[in-house]
Amino acid sequence: MSLKHLFFSDYLEGAHPRILQALSSNNLQQEKGYGLDRFSLEAADLVRDRIGNRDAAVHFVHSGGMANLVALGSMLKPYESIIAPASAHIHVHEGGAIEAAGHKINLVQSFDGKLTPGDIAAVMDKHIADEQMVLPKVVALTHATEVGTIYWRDEIEQIAKVCRKYDLYLFLDGARLASALASEDADIQLPGLSGLLDMFYIGGTKNGALLGEAIVINNPALQTQFRRHMRRRAAYVAKARLIGIQFVELLRDGLYLELARHANRMAKKLRQGIAAQGYRFLSESSSNLSFPIFPNEIIGRLQANYGFHAGARVDAGMSAVRLVTSWATPEQAVDDFVADLKAM
Ligand SMILES: Cc1ncc(COP(=O)(O)O)c(C=O)c1O
Repeated sequence: MSLKHLFFSDYLEGAHPRILQALSSNNLQQEKGYGLDRFSLEAADLVRDRIGNRDAAVHFVHSGGMANLVALGSMLKPYESIIAPASAHIHVHEGGAIEAAGHKINLVQSFDGKLTPGDIAAVMDKHIADEQMVLPKVVALTHATEVGTIYWRDEIEQIAKVCRKYDLYLFLDGARLASALASEDADIQLPGLSGLLDMFYIGGTKNGALLGEAIVINNPALQTQFRRHMRRRAAYVAKARLIGIQFVELLRDGLYLELARHANRMAKKLRQGIAAQGYRFLSESSSNLSFPIFPNEIIGRLQANYGFHAGARVDAGMSAVRLVTSWATPEQAVDDFVADLKAM
């Protein structure tokens, strides 16, 4: 039996029609390879414009996992490590890629997917004085986090301050940056956020692109030889033009945030419809990820009609599930889910 709708993730559809159109109209245009094409250069310029840093270096890669690997690897000496929350994608869902590149991740338990300045200071104080331990050098945040929360301006400013104190680089996994920025709750936007970060990436794959992520390097010291580093990590894309074209389309007139606003609106409607029936949530999401807690028996019945990940067991009879909306989620799918839940 085919399912009514899939809420597994935000990359389940192809690309926004405007992106397909742009790819198609530039299809036969001959261009240089490896990010030196006209489109990648234009897209990099648009990124610099949107973040308010004319001196940033911008590089395009094909996936979030690759963006994390190549970005984090470029910041670390062999004995250096990364501080991240235990929920971080780099820890849970990247097949040990960071560890395979030779770096430990110092994990911090976090209920809401966020790091705090206190967490970072505690890890540093423990590691600095003992040369038998790895030396943390990068703090890796995810925004929006893996549990749908977003950082507030004050939190990131305080984290940036503690990073300066301990001589740490601040990195942000932006696979769902669009959703975080477009959130009704957001109190920090791109220029302010980017100004606090040494390096981060802007996700396209989960926000209307066929695929592609833009790595942004603000810290000039980290810009040197980054393309050689990408090449060595097989992150160099011969047809980077395809990613460049997509980012031009996403960024030139606000499509990027418009698509994320839709995903967020659908998620909010879903949460409201579920909350109205008395269900609780695992986290207070401000983005396109929602984690309602349902009785296990209801989860089984919902899964007969909808695709979603059923995750954390909350107690003997209840579990949290993950519902993800996207730039293309039809409102009808949300209405159907809420109505079907009610009928149970
Ligand atoms: C926060 C976050 N970072 C990175 C990734 C990795 O992206 P990809 O699957 O494109 O490698 C994901 C994908 O789910 C993600 O959610």
